[in-house]
Amino acid sequence: MATYRTSSPLQTHRLGVRLGSAIQPPRTVFLRGELGAGKTALAKGLAEGLGVEDPDSVHSPTFSLVNQYPAPWGTVFHVDLYRLEGRRQQESVGLQEILDSDDVVIIEWAERLKLECDPPLHIEIRTSEDDDNGDVRIFRVRELSG
Ligand SMILES: Nc1ncnc2c1ncn2[C@@H]1O[C@H](COP(=O)(O)OP(=O)(O)OP(=O)(O)O)[C@@H](O)[C@H]1O
Ligand SMILES: [Mg+2]
Repeated sequence: MATYRTSSPLQTHRLGVRLGSAIQPPRTVFLRGELGAGKTALAKGLAEGLGVEDPDSVHSPTFSLVNQYPAPWGTVFHVDLYRLEGRRQQESVGLQEILDSDDVVIIEWAERLKLECDPPLHIEIRTSEDDDNGDVRIFRVRELSG
């Protein structure tokens, strides 16, 4: 397991780029952390590191539920399960097919996933308790085995 600490959204973006450039497709990435933890901020960096063609277009899938971004090697899917808690809802947006693809799938609120997938890269984001202005984030990154 690796732990990282950032103290600004820009640092989180850069961490995402670094982690994203090390990801080999196919891969599922679980992002966990409370509202406003920085899941989307990290996902934007991950997408950039994964080589998506228009990284500035990466935005929160909170309302769209599933976004997809082309990369030279395939597609980055970016999913938010906050409003997709049920298994049937997750199936209805085609998530099982997405998880079974050879692409990269980044999932916010991954603890709500009700479908099967290969062992993911797991990233947990926490806010720091001894942080005056509230900008410190701790990232714990680990491979989950089956
Ligand atoms: N170190 C940091 N890293 C990332 N974001 C930070 C940091 N410090 C402060 N922030 C702020 O925290 C917020 C993170 O928002 P973001 O949308 O990425 O969170 P989220 O985990 O995706 O939330 P949600 O659960 O609503 O999807 C932004 O407003 C950002 O400016
Ligand atoms: Mg988000």
